[in-house]
Amino acid sequence: MPQEEKNYNFKQLNNPFYIFRPKKLKKNVETFLKKFDGETIYSVKTNPNENVLKKIYNSGIRSFDVASIKEIKLIKSLFSKCKIYYMNPVKSYPMIQESYFKFGVRDFSFDCSDELEKISKATGMAKDLNLHIRISTNNNFCKVNLSKKFGIEGVEAYSLLRKASKISQNVGVSFHVGSQCLSPEAYKIALRKVSSIVSKSGIRIKFVNIGGGFPGKYLDVSLPNLAAYLKKIKSEFKKNFNNYSDIKLLSEPGRVLVYNCMSLVVKVILKQKKKLFINDGIHGHLSEIKKLGLIQPVRLFGKKTNKKNIPFSFYGPTCDSNDFLKGPFFLPESIKNEDFIEIDLMGAYTLTSKNDFNGFYSKPIIFTKE
Ligand SMILES: Cc1ncc(COP(=O)(O)O)c(C=O)c1O
Repeated sequence: MPQEEKNYNFKQLNNPFYIFRPKKLKKNVETFLKKFDGETIYSVKTNPNENVLKKIYNSGIRSFDVASIKEIKLIKSLFSKCKIYYMNPVKSYPMIQESYFKFGVRDFSFDCSDELEKISKATGMAKDLNLHIRISTNNNFCKVNLSKKFGIEGVEAYSLLRKASKISQNVGVSFHVGSQCLSPEAYKIALRKVSSIVSKSGIRIKFVNIGGGFPGKYLDVSLPNLAAYLKKIKSEFKKNFNNYSDIKLLSEPGRVLVYNCMSLVVKVILKQKKKLFINDGIHGHLSEIKKLGLIQPVRLFGKKTNKKNIPFSFYGPTCDSNDFLKGPFFLPESIKNEDFIEIDLMGAYTLTSKNDFNGFYSKPIIFTKE
């Protein structure tokens, strides 16, 4: 048993808890910064834990993509020198006002004329805005489609670009290929689309924001690595925008930076043949796993056994009959009630996904493994 498992004193814990591995996070951030030829903006929604945010900042990222005033306040409370991008395409009027006047936010995204007008009015017709038009793009390569809800295309896109350029000289185009995007091709298609919209609009844009989407390597070992994605983006950007050296590339990675920096430790509350009822589920920290149909690496935690592994399914603690993960999760056949299981690769879209259904979840303890 690794030494640190003895030190956690976890045996008394009845709630699921996390183990944070800052070194992995630092490595991910440094790799992204080294390989991406533009400004890297961390997408706070993916994992807004304070220690995670501090590590990201200390590893070199100074820009943050937020979706709400609460996220802005969190970032501002932690870092005095940083840049905030308010990239939720739909924001309430008071939230825009507060972000602009109280927190100095200048970057806003939108995908329709009404939202653009709202941003302009709420900021007192400000002239120093950076306006990001969110276009829709092919999301067929991803596990979480983000173009069903947001994004504009065709004639509407370039007329919105023209309208925005009358409000500010700093306009650009953003897209999101969808989260856990399994092919670099998606970025190529999106960049070509941006190029076509921009040339039809006749507007000189200042930035192209390629969003997030870079996948975590869960159990799909055949996925191209991050370098392949960034290489494709670089070459496609060059091809399409070669004549415009003043256009800046932005990216808003989330998952790829944090997915492997945390694991989750859960407890078996009842073993029923190959069903393991555990103290976490889809109303807790496992909703992303269910949504994406992921199968995470798992292992018995804090205990040694040489019994052979057999496949199990996980059942959450609530009365919701959908609260289960089919798996298969391979664990020792001798596993029993009160044993602990470590579920790896649990850093992205997990901490904030819990709800109050059946009253099970409180704020989890997070141990740090330096
Ligand atoms: C606007 C925006 N940017 C960035 C991200 C992060 O995406 P990912 O975690 O796929 O990198 C998201 C995720 O929903 C998003 O909505």
